[in-house]
Amino acid sequence: MPTSFQQFFTECQQRTNRFLSENLPPAIEPAAKLKAAMRYSCLDGGKRVRATLVYATANIFTPAFTSPLIDTAAAAVECIHAYSLIHDDLPAMDNDDLRRGKPTCHRAYDEATAILAGDALQTFAFELLSKACSTDSARLLSIIRHLAAASGSGGMAGGQAMDMDATGQNIDLAVLESVHRHKTGALITASVMMGALAGGASDEEVVFEKLKDYAKSIGLAFQVQDDILDVQSSTEILGKTSGSDISMAKATYVSLLGINGAGNKVSELHQNALSALSGFGGEAEHLRQLAKFIIERKH
Ligand code: IPE
Ligand code: IPE
Ligand code: MG
Ligand code: MG
Ligand code: MG
Repeated sequence: MPTSFQQFFTECQQRTNRFLSENLPPAIEPAAKLKAAMRYSCLDGGKRVRATLVYATANIFTPAFTSPLIDTAAAAVECIHAYSLIHDDLPAMDNDDLRRGKPTCHRAYDEATAILAGDALQTFAFELLSKACSTDSARLLSIIRHLAAASGSGGMAGGQAMDMDATGQNIDLAVLESVHRHKTGALITASVMMGALAGGASDEEVVFEKLKDYAKSIGLAFQVQDDILDVQSSTEILGKTSGSDISMAKATYVSLLGINGAGNKVSELHQNALSALSGFGGEAEHLRQLAKFIIERKH
């Protein structure tokens, strides 16, 4: 990883962690347990890939570390992501005990608190955005719309519902691709779109479509790589239980294509992502490096 990208990535992670730590409600009464659970699942862990996508895309249009709107968009998408993980781990869904190297939220607290922590993190994301410093309310609304659409029945939650329906079923690749594009790809695509908007781009610009193509490729690649890691990596490295997909009889790229087939798909998607950025110069280098990180990551 080039030093300049490593430094950028670290700064994005630190800014996101600081912003969330300062803005999440302190774990005091009333509802101290709920607030503690929100902080537990949102802080101290996570690669912050989605936040970094917001910053890296915004940085194409404006210096990313000088804008409160960009900080807010990055934090908001991580709140939605943390909520999705809390609910994904629940006994009614993937029934996992470990997340980010710690007991899952419902294990550390209890199931009711975990459900509510997910709910509250979701609304907190939108509360943060609605309070963001921006004189351009149409732009802010568009950012909110992208995040809402990517989170709901047409995005992450819809994909999670499709994932549950597909569990234990023989589904074909086209259906699985749709599951992955919804449950994981949509929020990753929204991160890029939100970054472009927060950085000052207009959604009518041609580059916006190119960025969307890039985002869709890395969004799918992210989940295919997640499927591979579930089989190839260890619980210690992942910070979540490896082999969870097989034990839950999940349909994955590995179960349909095998490890090599899934690996080839990741490489193909990586090339597509780079092609989408071919009209950009050095200003998109962080996005290129992020694509590489996503497909080479080990956890
Ligand atoms: C895990 O996402 C869930 C998926 C969508 C595959 P990440 O691998 O980005 O999880 P954290 O945020 O780094 O823990
Ligand atoms: C995650 O898919 C999708 C979400 C929207 C949270 P997985 O169920 O494969 O994620 P992990 O492997 O538990 O992180
Ligand atoms: Mg799942
Ligand atoms: Mg899971
Ligand atoms: Mg997984």
